[in-house]
Amino acid sequence: MIRECKKVYPPATIGIIGGGQLGRMLSFEAKRMGYRVAVLDPNMDAPAVQVSDYHVQGSYHDLEAFRKLASMSDVLTYEFEHLNADLLLILEKEGHALFPSANTLKTIQNKFEQKNFLTKIGIAVPDYKMIRTCSELESFYATHNNRAVVKTCTGGYDGKGNYILDEQSALRECYEYYNGIDIMAEEYVDFEKEVSIVVAKSASETILYPISENTHKKSILIKSLIPADISEAVRDSVCTMATRIVDALNDYGIFCIEFFVNRDSGVFVNEIAPRPHNTGHYSIEACITSQFEQLIRVLCAMPLGSSEMRMPAAMYNILGHEELEGEYVTRGIEEVLAVRDCHFHLYGKGVGGYLKKLGHITALDSDIRHANEKAKKAVKNFEIKSGGLINAKT
Ligand SMILES: Nc1ncnc2c1ncn2[C@@H]1O[C@H](COP(=O)(O)OP(=O)(O)O)[C@@H](O)[C@H]1O
Ligand SMILES: [Mg+2]
Repeated sequence: MIRECKKVYPPATIGIIGGGQLGRMLSFEAKRMGYRVAVLDPNMDAPAVQVSDYHVQGSYHDLEAFRKLASMSDVLTYEFEHLNADLLLILEKEGHALFPSANTLKTIQNKFEQKNFLTKIGIAVPDYKMIRTCSELESFYATHNNRAVVKTCTGGYDGKGNYILDEQSALRECYEYYNGIDIMAEEYVDFEKEVSIVVAKSASETILYPISENTHKKSILIKSLIPADISEAVRDSVCTMATRIVDALNDYGIFCIEFFVNRDSGVFVNEIAPRPHNTGHYSIEACITSQFEQLIRVLCAMPLGSSEMRMPAAMYNILGHEELEGEYVTRGIEEVLAVRDCHFHLYGKGVGGYLKKLGHITALDSDIRHANEKAKKAVKNFEIKSGGLINAKT
């Protein structure tokens, strides 16, 4: 049963659980529209805390911290999945408005439960199995062409928690690596492309964003090109599956669904996120309404905005390189900004690390190939080096 979404007018307060870059970009939009923002995060200098009105310093497993945030907020949301959903259930029972719901988060935050949900509603996913013993892993691997992707059921993000198994000799090491925590194995999909779609759902509207074509390295997103270069048939499958998924979730919010597209144009869902997504960052500059503004509209029960694109876009993540550790300095922002229609984002993280998401660059052009060239050039000219202080507050 879907809950009522009450109208929230500025300067009411929007509470965000999680203070990362998604919370930061959400806070920018909320503030632009005159709302106040409260953020729950353990870190005093988290990216979203730097740009919001109130900070509740606490853990994602602390009911009192959740209650404190709820008491100062008119509506609540979360910007990442790895928090205690039972505490969200308590907040809902205590009468606080939270979107998407605690139940939706429970379905999604466990990758095994998420795949069961997708299967139940008739959505194609790679073959998968819960793994309880090393011999179960061995037989899954053997029956799937000696390849598998092993994933932690909970807590994985940006490829953390995933293990690509393609050697018999690594099997035991892989199993033991997880040391008894809940894991599942997935068929390795030799996909042609990865694509994703952002969907906004309010009580009265469902809005699909243009489809993004994504490239990952070591399971972490490197770049997105929008619109994706896919056939009409694939586009239709993605849109139909995405609509069916958000309808079945029967909830309000921003959702992103990631897909694998096979060489024979078969489309499988990889995963769902119940929040704005890295592959939707392009919408900030490239769409009439960004995914972040759209979420504020949903949370406040306002009319939704158009997701139409102003121009094709290429988004490249700024990731920490292998030697980067601790505080850092940057060089090259002027070269990035010198590229026409190139937009620069740095998240204000105090410390860097290998493959840590520190910012992103979005380039626009009437031609997607040119947008890609521009973004590639811009990101190449931007440098992050260990050392110095970029933020005195750490
Ligand atoms: N079954 C699979 N087959 C092939 N590649 C996969 C599979 N599962 C994940 N990957 C690769 O790893 C990336 C990250 O995996 P994902 O399950 O989406 O984890 P995360 O929660 O870290 O985003 C995917 O985008 C894809 O590139
Ligand atoms: Mg993913």
